[in-house]
Amino acid sequence: MMNYGCEGLNAVISGGTSGIGLATAEKLLADGANVYILGRSVLRGAMAVQKLQAATERKAVYIPCDVTNGEDCRKALQSIGESLHILVNAAGVYMEKRLENFTEEDFSYIIDTNVKGTMLLTQAALPYMYGGGSIVNIASDAGINGNYGCPLYCASKGAVVALTKALALDYAPNIRVNCVCPADVDTPLLRKQLEDSNGGYTMADMAEAYPMQRIGRAEEVAHVICSVASPVNGFMTGAVIPVDGGLTAK
Ligand SMILES: NC(=O)c1ccc[n+]([C@@H]2O[C@H](COP(=O)([O-])OP(=O)(O)OC[C@H]3O[C@@H](n4cnc5c(N)ncnc54)[C@H](OP(=O)(O)O)[C@@H]3O)[C@@H](O)[C@H]2O)c1
Repeated sequence: MMNYGCEGLNAVISGGTSGIGLATAEKLLADGANVYILGRSVLRGAMAVQKLQAATERKAVYIPCDVTNGEDCRKALQSIGESLHILVNAAGVYMEKRLENFTEEDFSYIIDTNVKGTMLLTQAALPYMYGGGSIVNIASDAGINGNYGCPLYCASKGAVVALTKALALDYAPNIRVNCVCPADVDTPLLRKQLEDSNGGYTMADMAEAYPMQRIGRAEEVAHVICSVASPVNGFMTGAVIPVDGGLTAK
């Protein structure tokens, strides 16, 4: 078991009800943090809490929140009513579509969740980080390099990378802001991507692109998120960290 030094700290994780966010919640909870997971689906929230509770006696709290809605974000943070030490912005959505096929609704769906949602939740959280804190945004390899067939997603994650650097400057030295960039990771998001491709490609096809010859696991990304968030990691801010099996090294 890793020790991230987060015992007794309060951590909010958007997208903490699934995939990478849920794996992060699991690790922070095991490390002794008080964990608040945010997401829209109450059912997914209840299932996530059940899973977390089965692994530890520490209490995880689910708070319904749509990060595209500023009022929701403010209410979520208010309902915790305590100082906040860690914020992980993991809520995100993916779309595979070429530019010529975009609708304006597609723009709203991707940009509002991945960019505006990250900004609104961070804005709501900042007043509670008065004792100092650590923010970890989840971008993607697609925010560093381009990728085929998903320009809107790439643009949204590129914005998260730039936002991370800008916030790191504005909020130093009290608040560190870093960005973790996973490549393909086996989560519900990726399984939906495979389904939507209608057999166009498989997980094995994806694996071929990687120097490590496989895609990632949620707990591998979660480990890096917890390490970056950790107060032990006090000198890192404005960093963009790939966790991508060597993909962006190519
Ligand atoms: N998996 C990958 O291959 C991969 C690769 C690179 C980057 N990423 C990034 O990693 C992050 C986590 O992805 P994942 O693979 O773990 O996805 P996932 O399993 O689909 O989980 C996404 C989470 O975000 C929440 N969410 C989505 N829209 C939301 C909204 N408007 N308000 C609040 N919560 C919202 C979902 O809950 P509700 O739907 O209930 O709201 C869910 O908890 C995302 O930012 C994604 O872009 C993933």
